[in-house]
Amino acid sequence: MDNSVLLKVNQLKKTFIKKSGTVFNRKKTEVYAVNNVNFEIKKGEILGIIGESGCGKTTTARMVMRLMEESSGEILFEGNNLCTIKNAETNRLRKNMQMIFQDPYDTLNPGMRIVDILMEPLNAHEKNLPSNEKLKRVIEAIESIELKPAEDYLYRYPHQLSGGQRQRIAIARAVILKPSFIAADEPTSMLDVSVRAGILNLLLDLRKKMGLTMLFITHDLSTASYMCDRIAVMYQGRIVEIGPTKKIIQSPSHPYTIALVSVVKDLNYFIENREKLILDGEVDSTRKDTGCTFVTRCPHQEKVCHSKAPEIEALGNGHAVACHCHSNWLEKTS
Ligand SMILES: Nc1ncnc2c1ncn2[C@@H]1O[C@H](COP(=O)(O)OP(=O)(O)OP(=O)(O)O)[C@@H](O)[C@H]1O
Ligand SMILES: [Mg+2]
Repeated sequence: MDNSVLLKVNQLKKTFIKKSGTVFNRKKTEVYAVNNVNFEIKKGEILGIIGESGCGKTTTARMVMRLMEESSGEILFEGNNLCTIKNAETNRLRKNMQMIFQDPYDTLNPGMRIVDILMEPLNAHEKNLPSNEKLKRVIEAIESIELKPAEDYLYRYPHQLSGGQRQRIAIARAVILKPSFIAADEPTSMLDVSVRAGILNLLLDLRKKMGLTMLFITHDLSTASYMCDRIAVMYQGRIVEIGPTKKIIQSPSHPYTIALVSVVKDLNYFIENREKLILDGEVDSTRKDTGCTFVTRCPHQEKVCHSKAPEIEALGNGHAVACHCHSNWLEKTS
């Protein structure tokens, strides 16, 4: 693996069995939550995963963080395959990989004081550190997420903080072990609009100060374009387009990406001269695994789209798209 790459995901797949029907007439359907996903993240880079609800963003992050087992595929972190290494080694690597979840209400134990919440990772991974050193690290972590003076927050409980402050504490818990990688799953979507920018800027600031590498999940393209160096667009378990943020916003090449850009007022002027696309319907991840996943909603579909899943095709400069017909219809609309 290239030395500059911290995380590499190869052919990652997760299938769930969805049960429905009555006791006498049970029906089982396979849900292709993540379907042959490939990407890599370079050290210090922020890769965004964007896509509508149910497309497999969280499932991808949970597998990367080893909170969920994959159905198949490999996840290489610092060159180690997380899917096959032993528990002790996973533990060591886990210190380097942390996750920030969507809902700070859910993730902080309401019965614990902030000092105890932040001590927990130190007690698990840095057992030999003297208590006064641990407390120093807790105070530093609170200061790093810009809650000052830190001492004022130590003995509070999560319910005594605002939503934004709670998410800051969740971020402090993620960075206290000085990880190299963070997966942030919609870290601002449950927060009041007024505090979102502050959290995003804090993450960008921490990335700079700590040299963090990040997988940033969002369903909001404006947020992705603000935060990410590169963006992977996911549709029904597959990455349909990936590339530098500027390419994704200014020259989207998959009809689904065009649809995402079309509905964002601040961004869609880039594609002013091209046909905008407004989508109907919703993701159906129980579809049979044949053909292009987007075919049921695509206005540019051709015969081949029904029978063969498109491979991801390089367009140059790190930009790639999985669409049989992208060159045909791009010519028509540009
Ligand atoms: N534990 C589970 N059991 C069964 N199906 C699941 C499970 N977790 C996720 N799924 C299904 O897998 C698909 C992908 O879910 P996932 O939570 O990864 O989507 P998402 O992109 O994170 O969506 P959202 O934007 O709503 O968070 C969905 O169809 C979902 O219903
Ligand atoms: Mg999710």
